[in-house]
Amino acid sequence: MVKNAQAHDFFQQLNQDLRHSAFGLPRLILDEDQLKRNIQHAEQQLHKNKHLKPRLVVKSLASLQLLQTVATHFQTQRFMVFHLPQILPILESFSSADVLMGKPMPASTVEYFYLRFTSWNTSNIQWLVDTPQRLIAYLDIARRYAVRLQINIEIDVGLHRGGVSSTQELVALLKIIEAHPEQLKFSGLMGYDAHVTKLPSIIKKADVAYAESQQIYQHFIEIIQAQFPQLWHEELCLNGGGSPSFNFHVKQSVCNDLSFGSMLLKPSDFDSTHLEALKPALWIASPVLKVLENTELPGMPLLNKLPHKDKALFIYGGYWMADYVYPKGAHPHLLYGRSSNQELVNVSKTTQIDVDDYVFLRPTQSEAIIPQFSQLYCYKNNVFEAWETFRE
Ligand SMILES: Cc1ncc(COP(=O)(O)O)c(C=O)c1O
Repeated sequence: MVKNAQAHDFFQQLNQDLRHSAFGLPRLILDEDQLKRNIQHAEQQLHKNKHLKPRLVVKSLASLQLLQTVATHFQTQRFMVFHLPQILPILESFSSADVLMGKPMPASTVEYFYLRFTSWNTSNIQWLVDTPQRLIAYLDIARRYAVRLQINIEIDVGLHRGGVSSTQELVALLKIIEAHPEQLKFSGLMGYDAHVTKLPSIIKKADVAYAESQQIYQHFIEIIQAQFPQLWHEELCLNGGGSPSFNFHVKQSVCNDLSFGSMLLKPSDFDSTHLEALKPALWIASPVLKVLENTELPGMPLLNKLPHKDKALFIYGGYWMADYVYPKGAHPHLLYGRSSNQELVNVSKTTQIDVDDYVFLRPTQSEAIIPQFSQLYCYKNNVFEAWETFRE
């Protein structure tokens, strides 16, 4: 979709197909061909590093059919979950689901899970722990619900979003786990390294930041091996990465488990030289309700008399975390203000667009946008298939 003419043809066709078959509501659209190309590229990259197992980030691909499609391609049932309500559809739909929590859950949330969903009490969930306080609260839950919790420890590999950042902190947590083998089972480490490609290169180059984060990770691994040999084994889940650093991990990584999600849909926050081979696959389509020859600003009659180079569209919805991409040059008005109900979008006077045509936007994130739509429309060969999304 990089080339302008190609993009023009794609959106023109999509517009025709929406006009014929949709019923005039904003739609979230997945370009299935592009998704498949992105998956294929990621698979090829993963083949370079055979000891890295893929783990799908559920919040970024928050639709069961989408997750099933992606999981089948990668032959994985490893998932990273960030929101308790999203655990259940995963456990129900994937018989060998291996769930790693992507953030430490409040103890009350963990308790709610064991209280409310007793039939899932033995499921394969790694609860993420960052502090002794949280671990002790989890230990209490394990005792009261007679379960053995798998504990994965969050380590700070440079992102500084919390997690264990010193040898002492890691040792303190491992001692608690070791002392309570009936309630707690050590399952591995999780070190997220999104900062690696986000730092301005004048501050630190990405390859240097990656090497440093890997050294920190390796240091924590060595502490376990040296001081807790009875907790160490090859099956531990040493999770790292995320879309931003995917390209680094596939080349070389101390991890054996790599999370990613967003990059397969490539919302614009993931435009990075490190993910250049991947292309956008997720779009919002919104119907045009009104076409006005000029933008008229309330209370500004003099300004309104100046020559206008743009037409004003009012569309169904708006103000999403997304940028207008088609028609070319479409943009919200600087002064008129944004609207989630009926947004003003300017397009040049030469743009051919009518009421009931669609404008197209590219989300900045998939995790924020997918739950705003009840369906994700998988678009292939001019046909749309409605996939349910996780709205919660
Ligand atoms: C712990 C963790 N791992 C991995 C990811 C990567 O997810 P994605 O690939 O969708 O960016 C995230 C994103 O928030 C995360 O918080």
